[in-house]
Amino acid sequence: MADDLQRCVLVTGGAGFIGSHVVRHFIRRYPHYRIINYDKLTYAGSLSNLADVQDAPNYSFVHGDICDLDTLRFLLRERGINAIIHLAAESHVDRSIQTPLLFAHTNVIGTLSLLQAACECWDGQWEGKRFLHVSTDEVYGSLKPGDSPFNETTAYSPHSPYSASKASSDHFVKAYHDTYGLPVVLTNCSNNYGPYQFPEKLIPLSICNICNNRPIPIYGNGQNVRDWLYVEDHACAIDEVFHRGRDGASYNIGGVNEWKNIDLVKLLIRLVDEQLGRPIGSSERLITYVADRAGHDIRYAIDAGKIQRELGWKPRRSFESGLRDTVKWYLEHTEWVQEVTHGVYEPYDVEKYNRS
Ligand code: NAD
Ligand code: DAU
Repeated sequence: MADDLQRCVLVTGGAGFIGSHVVRHFIRRYPHYRIINYDKLTYAGSLSNLADVQDAPNYSFVHGDICDLDTLRFLLRERGINAIIHLAAESHVDRSIQTPLLFAHTNVIGTLSLLQAACECWDGQWEGKRFLHVSTDEVYGSLKPGDSPFNETTAYSPHSPYSASKASSDHFVKAYHDTYGLPVVLTNCSNNYGPYQFPEKLIPLSICNICNNRPIPIYGNGQNVRDWLYVEDHACAIDEVFHRGRDGASYNIGGVNEWKNIDLVKLLIRLVDEQLGRPIGSSERLITYVADRAGHDIRYAIDAGKIQRELGWKPRRSFESGLRDTVKWYLEHTEWVQEVTHGVYEPYDVEKYNRS
């Protein structure tokens, strides 16, 4: 898909963590595109995440729900939308254990509504159209230490209500391609980190708790492994797949950067202690082992060879520099943390939902 076309791109979930980086990336890199951010503004979405670009001439915001098919149909027709980058979702695994129906509704019915609206409004005129679905590596299930990383042919085996809902939405995206010919591409990415991540996820939660001398909850024995990628690298990968990915294909995206949770938290402690001028490592006393997440996947790791071979993408940011900047960002944006965590947001209840 050429990048010199007049594109009108609907980005769903653009007020969330990854979505806000995608919106910012596209606004700046493609000033001749119109970027419409469509977001329900749940507890996880905030327009503050885009304060620096909100007045850009090629940007607009529409407050709406991806499950609202009538509004989607109207918007696609009225604005002449010819591409969709779909990120809107309930994204936090712990919450999916607490409220699985909400995850099925948003992630499955929401994606299906968007596919249906695109199919009806584009009505077989597929030339120059594209639907990119942003998904997760969690659809592949869990690896044991020593297993090969997930590639695009790994069978789906989701374990949590979150990953089951994302797997289901992936299947619907592929079904709309195979059945109706809708031009789709999919991405399955590993764990992201960086500025504007809601402080319920491991990295920002740990940074905030270290700063405030609060306990850092480590689920189970802390040996679970995640593969971490800087969020701006993910936005660049989405750009590549959006413009040059093969119709109907999936692309795995990852950092080739596996960390055990406990080692990552100890590294964060060193970085925060250093930036706050505390004795390095003194905050390790805050580490608190708690009951394990139910169905906790042991290890995720991505083989990102396909996107590197076909599209030339690879992560640019080193983990050390990305993590250092992330820590600095959270220490300098305590007002943002206050703003997004007060109000409708209710902290996850570890005691009630995790398993001993
Ligand atoms: P997030 O929770 O930070 O943001 C989700 C956004 O979606 C919020 O702005 C929220 O208001 C919006 N939203 C929720 N329900 C909606 C609805 N019904 N209608 C419209 N908007 C709605 O999520 P994130 O971490 O930025 O993840 C974005 C996408 O990327 C998700 O699809 C997620 O599955 C996927 N993903 C995330 C990661 C990660 O590490 N965070 C990794 C791989 C894939
Ligand atoms: O792999 C991609 C996925 O990464 C995305 O699809 C999800 O949207 C995103 O939330 C993330 O899921 P995880 O469950 O891996 O991320 P989280 O930050 O919640 O947890 C990371 C690891 O840390 C996981 O093994 C659970 C553990 N953990 C998490 C929290 C919040 C703790 O030990 N303590 C905690 O307080």
